[in-house]
Parts: sequence; structure tokens; C-alpha cells
Amino acid sequence: MGSFFSKFFKFGSRNMAIDLGTANTLVYVQDGGIVLNEPSVVAIETINGIKRVKAVGDDAKMMMGKTPDNIEAIRPLRDGVIADLDVAEEMIKHFIRKVNGKRTSMLSPPEIVICVPSGATSVEKRAIRDAASNAGASEVFLILEPMAAAIGADMPVTEPVGSMVVDIGGGTTEVAVLSLRGLAYTTSVRTGGDKMDESIISYVRRHHNLLIGDATAERIKKDYGIAVVPADGIGEQVTIKGRDLVNGVPKEITINQAHIAEALSEPIAAIVEGVRIALENTAPELAADIVDQGIVLTGGGALIRGLDEHLRDETGLPVSVAEDPLTCVAMGTGRAMEDPVYRGVLMTA
Ligand SMILES: Nc1ncnc2c1ncn2[C@@H]1O[C@H](COP(=O)(O)OP(=O)(O)OP(=O)(O)O)[C@@H](O)[C@H]1O
Ligand SMILES: [Mg+2]
Repeated sequence: MGSFFSKFFKFGSRNMAIDLGTANTLVYVQDGGIVLNEPSVVAIETINGIKRVKAVGDDAKMMMGKTPDNIEAIRPLRDGVIADLDVAEEMIKHFIRKVNGKRTSMLSPPEIVICVPSGATSVEKRAIRDAASNAGASEVFLILEPMAAAIGADMPVTEPVGSMVVDIGGGTTEVAVLSLRGLAYTTSVRTGGDKMDESIISYVRRHHNLLIGDATAERIKKDYGIAVVPADGIGEQVTIKGRDLVNGVPKEITINQAHIAEALSEPIAAIVEGVRIALENTAPELAADIVDQGIVLTGGGALIRGLDEHLRDETGLPVSVAEDPLTCVAMGTGRAMEDPVYRGVLMTA
């Protein structure tokens, strides 16, 4: 293990740690921290049957749901794994080029640490590794996403103490029990921010015959999303614009946060269930540690209002939200690359 780790300090290369997420990709450069944070979206244009990349990241996300027929905004990762390998590769290449800027020719190819979901199969891991090598990495190391999340959230992963991290991303929720640089137990639920958006879309369709797009649903979730019905039974009012399914014209409706809590109840119950399964499968000594250490929430889904409290009520355990949940995985992947104390968590295959 030590032998490949030491290669990270090769002179002149600008090594990178990448959080290749379903919703967002973050790039951390050695000794420089997070330098890129953009949506995992690629806009592909087809002209005379030939496809080419039109935009990537922020620029491509703005086009989602608004593209003309010859442009398609693609999210190459779904449910936490690569759904479109070629497009994923193009996206990684684009981001690496963006981070390196004009210096590319002066630098030796970077070594890259990239995180993979703990439930990824060996085929999926190979796909991610290949995408990074084809994008120009001289060598690729992998780190399991919950381990990266826990390191990024400053959890005591190197100590003989059990702790639990719940990383709620766009595609998946990963629940893991960590101790001594290893994952003692892990389970992955294919529910995350995307499912929450879908639940909001289907709620307004079912109850109001209103069709709304993904971007609108995500905005409602971020601004008003709540895990339980507000104390007054209503909460804030939310105005939503979309297309009426009956007569096809644009229309506006108003719902409240209690309705949103109802809409989100299914994906949130799936997350709670994942946590419960993990707790049931945790060895007693580690479970005892979790009673003291509590559960730490990371990933964008951790920002849903009241989710920490809801999990506390459901499990009877202390629950906290990491300081900056959206960057934990990238920070942890970067630290694992830089700090020898974490050697052993990086994998070559
Ligand atoms: N304030 C917020 N409230 C609720 N959800 C949010 C908030 N901010 C971001 N999100 C959601 O978090 C998700 C993105 O989180 P994150 O960047 O951790 O996912 P990811 O790492 O790309 O996905 P995965 O780990 O599943 O591959 C999106 O679904 C986004 O809508
Ligand atoms: Mg993630």
C-alpha cells in the first residue's frame, strides 16, 4: 500500500481528487483544495448526425429542459453509477482541462483519486477508473464514497471507534459504519435528491393536474423542502408554475410546506429504513460507540429541513449535519490523497 501512496508526491504533477457525483462533480487539487464544483451535466448537440459536446457543467445545466430538438442535456451518472460512459469521460476530460487551464502542456499527467459508491460492482468501478484514465490520468486510485464523506466530515475514521455516516446524494443514500480506516458495514439505498424531486413532480401532478419540470421541482425542494409537517400544520406557502395537464396552458398553483412534507414522505422513509437496516446489522461494540458518537449526515440531501431531527426521533440516537455537507466527499477524497494518515483507504482496483 505504501509504495503506491508515495507516488502521489511525484514532482511537478498536479494531482487531483474528484467527487464524481450523480448531481455534482467537484475537483480538489493537491495543496489547493476544491477548485471546481459544477453540475454533472453535459449538453450534446447533433448536427447532420454527428454528436459533439456543446456545454458542460453550469452552462449545460441551464439548458436542461429547455433545449431545442438537436441539443440534449445528459446526466451521465444515474443512481450513483455511470449510465453513459462516453459522455462521463467527456465530462471528466472537460473538468480536468478546465482545472489545469493553459498549463496543461507544462504538467505531467495527474494522478487521480476518484470516489465510487460503496455498492459499485467491479464492472462499475472499472468503468469509472477507465473514464479517468482515458481523461488523462497517469494513475487512478479509488476511494469508497462513505469513507471519503466521513473523512471530509472530520469523523474519527482512523480510530478504533465506531461511527455512522449517512451520505444523501442526488442518486443514492449511502449508510456506513466506519472504524479503523475500514467500512464495518455499508448499505446503499437508491433514493436521494432525484427521488425527492420526482416525488414533488408526481405530487403536484396528482393533486393539481400540473406538470412541472425537474429544475422547478429541485428549486421547490431546496427552498421549502421539509422532512416532517411543520409545527403549525401548514408552514410557508409555495407558488408553483407549470403546465395544466387538462387544457395544456401555463398555470400557477399554491401549496404549503405540509403538502411538501407529504410529497417527500416516501423517499424520506426509504432513507430512514436504510439507516435502520444498517443499525440492525452493526456489531454490538460498534453500535455502542454509535450511541455516543451519533450519526453524521452529509451530501446535499442532508440540507432538507428537519431531517436530522426526524432521524433522531426515529432512531433515538444523536444526529448532526456536517458543516458543509455538499463538499464533504470532495474534501475527504482530497485529504485521503494528501495525508499519509489515511493511507490504506485508497484502492487500486
Ligand atoms: N438546500 C438543499 N436542500 C435539499 N436538497 C438539496 C439542497 N442543496 C442541494 N440539494 C440536493 O442535493 C443533491 C446533490 O447532492 P450531492 O452533491 O451530495 O449529490 P452527488 O454527490 O452529486 O450524488 P451521489 O452521491 O448520489 O452520486 C441534489 O439532489 C440537490 O437537489
Ligand atoms: Mg456524492
